[in-house]
Amino acid sequence: MVIYMKKILVIGSLNMDLVVNVAHTPAVGETILTDRMSLIPGGKGANQACAAGRLGADITMLGAVGDDTYGDILIESLKKSGVNVSGIIRRKGENTGIALITVNSAGDNSIVVVSGANATLSCEDIDRHRELLQEADIILFQMEIPAATVRYAAKMAKSLGKTVILDPAPVPENFPDELYRYVDVLKPNETELHMLTKTDRIETRLPEAVGFLKAKGIKNVLVTLGENGVYLDAEDTGVSKIPALKVEAVDTTAAGDSFTAAMAVILSQGKSLKEAAVFANQVSAIVVTRKGAQSSIPFLDEVTEYLSSL
Ligand code: RIB
Repeated sequence: MVIYMKKILVIGSLNMDLVVNVAHTPAVGETILTDRMSLIPGGKGANQACAAGRLGADITMLGAVGDDTYGDILIESLKKSGVNVSGIIRRKGENTGIALITVNSAGDNSIVVVSGANATLSCEDIDRHRELLQEADIILFQMEIPAATVRYAAKMAKSLGKTVILDPAPVPENFPDELYRYVDVLKPNETELHMLTKTDRIETRLPEAVGFLKAKGIKNVLVTLGENGVYLDAEDTGVSKIPALKVEAVDTTAAGDSFTAAMAVILSQGKSLKEAAVFANQVSAIVVTRKGAQSSIPFLDEVTEYLSSL
């Protein structure tokens, strides 16, 4: 059977992750020692592109790296994952983005990103690569590039009739409300949902917080809730709750990115958002059992093998 696959474009960040594993996340003013540090390809945009590529999608990445070795490594990692890298700009005189990540013994992380070349991705770059937006069917965004660029590109994507998916991570201080007009699917986690809607005690007030976003015009909202699974409010199937798979989490880095990408891959095959969310939940269950960002993202055959073992 031939499956018609729509084209996916990721517009976003690429980072080299400097990861330290620690017993616990350091408190303010605390110094702790560790002997483990790893360099792992990451960046929310690049992780999404990598996941889509490994899951067999027709995927292109538009973003910016510096003219340094980290940039070479990040581009190579995406190429090896089946991503078309023709939209990755090598910015002369800039450093590639770097993420400083601590992962504690529960697998939870905290991340500081030094944006570097990601911060230079401009509206002019989007204009120069307009054909990539024209050729794509589904366009994914996150918020590690300038918010003004996301807004400009999402507006262009919408006017070209594309399906726009926004993973609002990290939520910028001045999240541009105008963005809601251009987004078809919004995928926050609990923290991001709280930041976007200012709703406290999200765990007991999910329908209210999601209702706030739907009132802004978003037709489809998916909230990832970690070990509590996924809450989906979709235009076609209404509200569904998808339970998390029981796994031993060692590192949650890139779980959200992989979720968004896996969802887009299933949508690119013409399936429903609910089917997409179920598959995405399975893919991110694998990701959390492995260390690092792109080092933890599975290929399609690994997902198939995992699902047949359930
Ligand atoms: O979502 C995980 C990613 O966030 C890491 O790979 C890091 O680069 C930061 O962008």
